Amino acid sequence: MTSSYRITLLPGDGIGPEITAVARQMLDAVSRKHGFELAYNEQPMGGAAIDATGEPLPASTLEACKAADAVLLAAIGSPQYDTLPREKRPETGLLGLRAGMGLFANLRPVKIIPALIDASTLKREVIEGVDLMVVRELTGGVYFGTPKGRVEAEGRVRGFNTMAYFDDEIDRIAKVGFDLAQQRSGRLCSVDKANVLDVSQLWRDQVEALHAASYPGVELSHMYVDNAAMQLVRNPRQFDVLLTSNLFGDILSDEAAMLSGSIGMLPSASLGESGPGLFEPIHGSAPDIARQDKANPMAMVLSAAMMLRVGLEQEAAATDLEQAVDQVLAGGYRTGDLMAEGCTQLGCKAMGDQLMGALEG
Ligand code: IPM
Ligand code: MG
Repeated sequence: MTSSYRITLLPGDGIGPEITAVARQMLDAVSRKHGFELAYNEQPMGGAAIDATGEPLPASTLEACKAADAVLLAAIGSPQYDTLPREKRPETGLLGLRAGMGLFANLRPVKIIPALIDASTLKREVIEGVDLMVVRELTGGVYFGTPKGRVEAEGRVRGFNTMAYFDDEIDRIAKVGFDLAQQRSGRLCSVDKANVLDVSQLWRDQVEALHAASYPGVELSHMYVDNAAMQLVRNPRQFDVLLTSNLFGDILSDEAAMLSGSIGMLPSASLGESGPGLFEPIHGSAPDIARQDKANPMAMVLSAAMMLRVGLEQEAAATDLEQAVDQVLAGGYRTGDLMAEGCTQLGCKAMGDQLMGALEG
């Protein structure tokens, strides 16, 4: 019997629909080749959903995501929605999706692609051989903590959020980090601010206890987040798995992404205890270049590959997509964000054609 998977597709905003079209074309090609079927259910999300329904995450979209075998999201957000009340903004829809699907573990791999080594703002000798994974907690911390809000008192206005974790929330994300470290080179660096924050001291205590109890074979280190930010650009090769809370991982994963030359190259996976995962590029919706056929579709294609590998266990098809990306880059084809001397600049569609050619060639 042919395997068939239900994919909920969320093209979202900005360059989202353009890069989704490229990824879908490639997914169709590899699924034919490897003998499985993908049934897509496209749903509005973010600004597109606000325009259609007034809500950034309509209940029907969340339901379709929960009912899928995997969810593939392109990007959300646009400046035109930045003045809406917080609960109506695209970003709130994304947080609702993460929470609603129970996606507490966000995996952001950063691997140097040899053809792009000179596209980085950092020196070749610093980034050569970098291969790390940020494991970011995604449904807790200051993003979700209460109380939060804005109050007026004695003629002053005070805005506040709460950075809080329960011990079991720390344990389950730390377990993901330790398991991944075991599959990789066996090193885990846990990032915190335990010299200042109580929530970070609990984080560190839990990670240490779990290490002693269940993962004595993993080489564990702890690093304060400010030092981690510095070490990432000073000597990124020292890292294998970086374990972080929600906010620290948000910041450090953007920084780590730039090691690879362009944030336009990096995929991510968000996973829960069970149920479908959500796969998306790390980059945003780039509204400044939307609908101009300039977007780099490669992070979206690599997110589709991550979906095939991690979400659907179709390893061979995932590898095909990744090899197509490598081959096109090695052939000197670049989108504007990666353009370098001697290379051929392509728009999003033409890059899609090259990628398809590499897949079928
Ligand atoms: C990310 C993004 C999101 C986040 C925004 C869009 C809400 O920056 O996925 O890193 O802060 O988590
Ligand atoms: Mg971010």
